[in-house]
Amino acid sequence: MNRESTEQQNPTSLIDRFNRRINYLRISVTDRCDLRCVYCMAEDMEFVPRSQLLTLEELFRVGKSFVDLGVRKIRITGGEPLTRRGVMQLFEALGELRGLDDLTLTTNGTLLGRYAQALKDAGVTRVNISLDSLREDRFRRITRIGDIHRTLAGIDAALKAGFQRVKLNSVIMKNRNEDEIHDLVAFAEERGMDISFIEEMPLGETEDHDRGELYYASHQVLAVLQQHYELLATTETTGGPARYYRIDDSDTRIGFISPHSHNFCEHCNRVRLTAEGRLLLCLGQEHSVDLRRVVRANPLNDEPLHRAIIDAMEIKPKGHEFDLTAKPVLFRHMNVTGG
Ligand code: GTP
Ligand code: 5AD
Ligand code: SF4
Repeated sequence: MNRESTEQQNPTSLIDRFNRRINYLRISVTDRCDLRCVYCMAEDMEFVPRSQLLTLEELFRVGKSFVDLGVRKIRITGGEPLTRRGVMQLFEALGELRGLDDLTLTTNGTLLGRYAQALKDAGVTRVNISLDSLREDRFRRITRIGDIHRTLAGIDAALKAGFQRVKLNSVIMKNRNEDEIHDLVAFAEERGMDISFIEEMPLGETEDHDRGELYYASHQVLAVLQQHYELLATTETTGGPARYYRIDDSDTRIGFISPHSHNFCEHCNRVRLTAEGRLLLCLGQEHSVDLRRVVRANPLNDEPLHRAIIDAMEIKPKGHEFDLTAKPVLFRHMNVTGG
C-alpha cells in the first residue's frame, strides 16, 4: 500500500455551491455487520457482493486524494467496519498521512476487544460506539442478535487503549429505550466518555416499527436530563452534526444529533464514500458520483480522481428532506453509509 505522505496541493478547494467547505470524509468499508439493529437494517438484508467492493488499496487512494484536497477528518464506518478483512492495513496507512488531523471510527464495539490497541497504535484519535440500552434483553431486541457483554467489553478495551475521546451513540426511541436516558448518561459519566443522542432517520424500510410512532425528539431528551443535571450549552464541536452540552463539574459532553428537530445541513462539512466506491454528497439524498470507475480507469494517475472529487461538489444538495410521516423515499439502508 502506498504510504507516502501527502503533498498538500490546494488545501481549500472542496467548496460547494452553498459555500460550505468540505473537510470531513466518512468512508464505509463494508455494508456488512455482525448486528442487525432495527432502525438500521431490515431483518433480511442483501449485501453487496465482495467482488464489487473497492479494495483496501483503492479505499486508501480515495482517502489520500481527499486529504490532498483539504480534508482533515476521516471517519471509518460500516456496516461494522471491523468485520472487513484486513481493515487494519487501511487504518495504518491512513494513520501515516500527513495533513490528516483526525482519524476516527464508528463501531458497534463487538470487535474492539481484539482491535482497540492496534487502532490506537495506528493513529486512530477518537472512537464512537453505538449503545442504545444497558439491559441485556433490550440490547438483544434492538440489535436483533447482539450480546451486550461483547459491546461492553469493547467499550472497556477502548477506554484502556487511551484514545483522545470515546463517545457513545444512542438512538432514542419512544417506549423502547427513552427510560434509559439517565442510565446511559450515568454510564458515560462514570467512565469519562461523551454521549450523543440521535433522532432516528428514515433510511430504507424497517418492518420492525413505525418510525413516526417511535419518534423521540432531542428537546425531549434534553428536558429529561435537565430534571437531574445542570446542563450548559457549549459551542464546542467535533466537526460532526452534534450540538453539545456539558454537565457541570464533569468531563462528559452530551451531544444531540437532531436531523428532524434542528436541521444542521446549512453547516454540512462532509461527504461519504460507500464500500463500492460511490461518493454520496448527502446522507439524505441520492446525488452521487461513481469514483470506482474513475479509480480503475486511471490506476497510475490521481489527477482524474482529484478532478472528479472537485467536480462532485457542484452536485452536493442543500440538505435532506426526511419525513417520518411518509414511507422512506430512500431505499438505501443506513448500513450502506454507516450513518
Ligand atoms: P463526531 O466526529 O464525534 O462528531 O462524530 P459524527 O457524529 O460525525 O459521526 P457518527 O458516526 O458518530 O454519527 C453519529 C450520527 O450522526 C449517526 O446517526 C449519523 O448518521 C449522523 N450523522 C452524521 N453526519 C450526518 C449528516 O451529515 N446528516 C445527517 N442527517 N446525519 C448525520
Ligand atoms: N437513524 C439514526 N441513526 C442511525 N444509526 C443507524 N441507523 C440509524 C437511523 N436509521 C446510527 C447507529 C450508529 C450511527 C453510525 O448511526 O446507531 O451509532
Ligand atoms: Fe450494524 Fe451499526 Fe447498523 Fe447496528 S447500526 S446494524 S451495529 S451497522
